[in-house]
Amino acid sequence: MRNLVRLSDTADFIIDGKAVCDLYNTKGGLYAIKGTLLPKHRQRVEFFVRSADFALFSKQVPAQEDTTRLQFEKMNLSEYKNVMESFISKETIELYNRLISDLTDVFSAGLNGVTIIDFAEDIIEKTFNENRVDLYLCNKAFSSFNLATARHSLSVYLLFCEVMFDFRKQSRDLPFYTTFKQRGKKINFSSDQIRKYALGALLHDIGKIKIPEELLEKPTPLTNEEMELMQQHSRFGIEILDEAGEYSPEIREMVGNHHQAYPVFKDIEPSPLVEILSMIDIFDACRTERPYKHAFSFKECEKVLYENKRKFGWSSYLLQNVLDRTLRKFESHYQILQSTVSGM
Ligand SMILES: [Fe+2]
Ligand SMILES: [Fe+2]
Repeated sequence: MRNLVRLSDTADFIIDGKAVCDLYNTKGGLYAIKGTLLPKHRQRVEFFVRSADFALFSKQVPAQEDTTRLQFEKMNLSEYKNVMESFISKETIELYNRLISDLTDVFSAGLNGVTIIDFAEDIIEKTFNENRVDLYLCNKAFSSFNLATARHSLSVYLLFCEVMFDFRKQSRDLPFYTTFKQRGKKINFSSDQIRKYALGALLHDIGKIKIPEELLEKPTPLTNEEMELMQQHSRFGIEILDEAGEYSPEIREMVGNHHQAYPVFKDIEPSPLVEILSMIDIFDACRTERPYKHAFSFKECEKVLYENKRKFGWSSYLLQNVLDRTLRKFESHYQILQSTVSGM
């Protein structure tokens, strides 16, 4: 498929719910022909359009920052595929595409709690033993403002699992275990248990499905009332878990207390799982471009994490481990991908 342009914003191409021209999916297949009526949840996938149609219909002003995201957008689909396939196997890219489409449904289709948990468990099942670095790179490279929560959740889940597996690999004598013991929380690192915690990481922001989209994507600062509503997403997340009958205390604490500044369950000693999740959550939010902010550099993210460590009394040992053994590793892969793209 030649001369397709990837859309970072579909506003000019779906008007009154109808496609104004032919829309293509991420694999270059025809997704909707001109004039097709698309229900809301079907509008939230990645689209490509023919470059002629792009020139005809797009009123988009190019963004000022020349980030990797934009570099990717300058390529046509076959160039793009070549770059990605020189890094990542076709199978992984295909898996990623299926995954992000399922995840998009979880975050946009207004499903009930039971179905959300089913979907999330299925996503974990399909990815638990896959290459997390490759899936993370797909998630970064295909980044766009659309689906921000689905992509953020996927990155947080992948990084979280990496940290868990990494800690499991380390000797039981390491201070990590002492840290956990000191806090009176027993963390079990069996695969089944990590799989269970993974659900908390993947669904930590699930409450955002109850927050209006305009608010999630608002490019300007939130008013006090909007901020109050936004902060409710942790509580909404717990409501969704309740709906699903998901009573695992670890998952409930991860979802309810991942923002330590406004926890749902107050007066409890934070579990190290929640600390790790908060670190990764903050890192990904800072490192990613959003409608209201640029992507911070890795160094800036590190600074923000240390500020939060002081604020919330995080364990230095945990933070250093998460930073040096996982975040830095994933970042270095991402840097290589970025420099390859910029050099093209
Ligand atoms: Fe959150
Ligand atoms: Fe988050």
